[in-house]
Amino acid sequence: MPVLGIDLGTSGCKTVLVDRDGSILASATAEYPLSTPKPLWSEQNPEDWWLGLVTSVKAVLAKVPGAIVEGIGIGGQMHGATLLDENDEVLRPAILWNDGRCEAECALLHKKVPGLIKETGNRALVGFTAPKLLWVQKHEPKIWKKVRTVLLPKDYLRFRQTGEKVAEMSDGAGMLLMDVANRRWSKKVLKAVGIDESYLGRLIEGTEISGTVTGDVAQELGIPTGTPVVGGAGDQAAGAIGAGCATPGATTISIGTSGVVFTTTKGYAPEKDGRLHTFCHAIPGTWHQMGVMLSAAGSLQWYRDTLCPGVEFSDLLAEAAKAPIGSEGLTFLPYLTGERTPLCDAQARGAFIGLTRLHTRGHLTRAVIEGICFGLADSLALIRSAGTTVKEATATGGATRSDLWMQILADIGNVKIVLRTGADAGPALGGARLALVGACGLPAKKVFAPGPVEKTFAPNAKAVKAYAPVAARFKTLYPAIQGYCHGL
Ligand code: XUL
Repeated sequence: MPVLGIDLGTSGCKTVLVDRDGSILASATAEYPLSTPKPLWSEQNPEDWWLGLVTSVKAVLAKVPGAIVEGIGIGGQMHGATLLDENDEVLRPAILWNDGRCEAECALLHKKVPGLIKETGNRALVGFTAPKLLWVQKHEPKIWKKVRTVLLPKDYLRFRQTGEKVAEMSDGAGMLLMDVANRRWSKKVLKAVGIDESYLGRLIEGTEISGTVTGDVAQELGIPTGTPVVGGAGDQAAGAIGAGCATPGATTISIGTSGVVFTTTKGYAPEKDGRLHTFCHAIPGTWHQMGVMLSAAGSLQWYRDTLCPGVEFSDLLAEAAKAPIGSEGLTFLPYLTGERTPLCDAQARGAFIGLTRLHTRGHLTRAVIEGICFGLADSLALIRSAGTTVKEATATGGATRSDLWMQILADIGNVKIVLRTGADAGPALGGARLALVGACGLPAKKVFAPGPVEKTFAPNAKAVKAYAPVAARFKTLYPAIQGYCHGL
């Protein structure tokens, strides 16, 4: 009997039906809007998430008539604040991971909790949940007075399915309310934010059963009443599990709109200045380190749409292949939407630096790709400096379609890049795998195993050497313009 894996994304809810052998039987996505009522704001209506779940689950089940669902695992967009009152009614639109309104509250949180990085493993960033709560306290006190429950987006969907208020370790760690080393809520941070544990629910592991689907919902979805729902995971941990990144040292580099370097670690291993995200993994007894770049392929998309509208990406990349390593002195800083790792700077801005009349469109495109890879390599370097050896990484996302891009990544990161069958199935598959282990009792080692390698890009020693001075140049540039960016 199959399981459902659900990914509550930012643009839509994707559901997959996965067989006990791990194969995907059917998939469907239902989209919903994102609203930006003010600059820097990013919000969604939790009811839209629920409709997305119902629509995509029904669409998937309609494709496989007779399928009896044995378990459910949800992965989803992390860090969002869903606020409920005493009757469990939603109090305001959820404030999302990519909302940038709470910079002042991040500074306030560091002031209120002097050892914040030590306590949580992380710095306060505008994306995270805790500063969002301080923002609501300050700017919407009437709403804050009514708040009795704070749930992450996917945990709100769990609540709607099962009636259980539960948070799960990998996603909970991204709230900045956890003592990540000890896998429990942090009394210190909770006190500083002015809430107690009853607001947050029970913390469980990704493979643990959180509750079962209630009768009404089961009928609406067309699944058996009492279907178990496992803890699931934040979308990054779920995506990593979908790509087979589950054992210590295993690393994935995903290049979509944002870029993420994700490494599984056996123990809790924070970066000393909190420049990496150090979260629990969704697999019991493991943690992960993660570097997050906010505009990875998003930078190339912006570049194409703005400067070369209508030109195919493949044509741009063919031109880029003709430009030499280092784009003849041209550097692109990929900070179009601020940056998390390594800058932790919401006010960072992008730039082309070093333009001359010699530069062609091919140079510009290559500089964009190189800038994105330097950004990813910064995360890789921090992961290595925090004690993890990374020799090989599985790449996922749209960028894997370009051999040139993958080779530049291997050369700049000095890391072997591999592409694996099925690695791109994403967080929905990860959610399903957690359900196969937690709800169906299948062995984790088998379920979480990576797929076969399809392609390898080994670092080229000559190119690695040639990139070293270019990387050094890249590192000096943002500090040189930071004051300018902050003054804008
Ligand atoms: C991770 C992060 C994003 C969101 C949305 O830290 O902010 O991955 O979860 O995808």
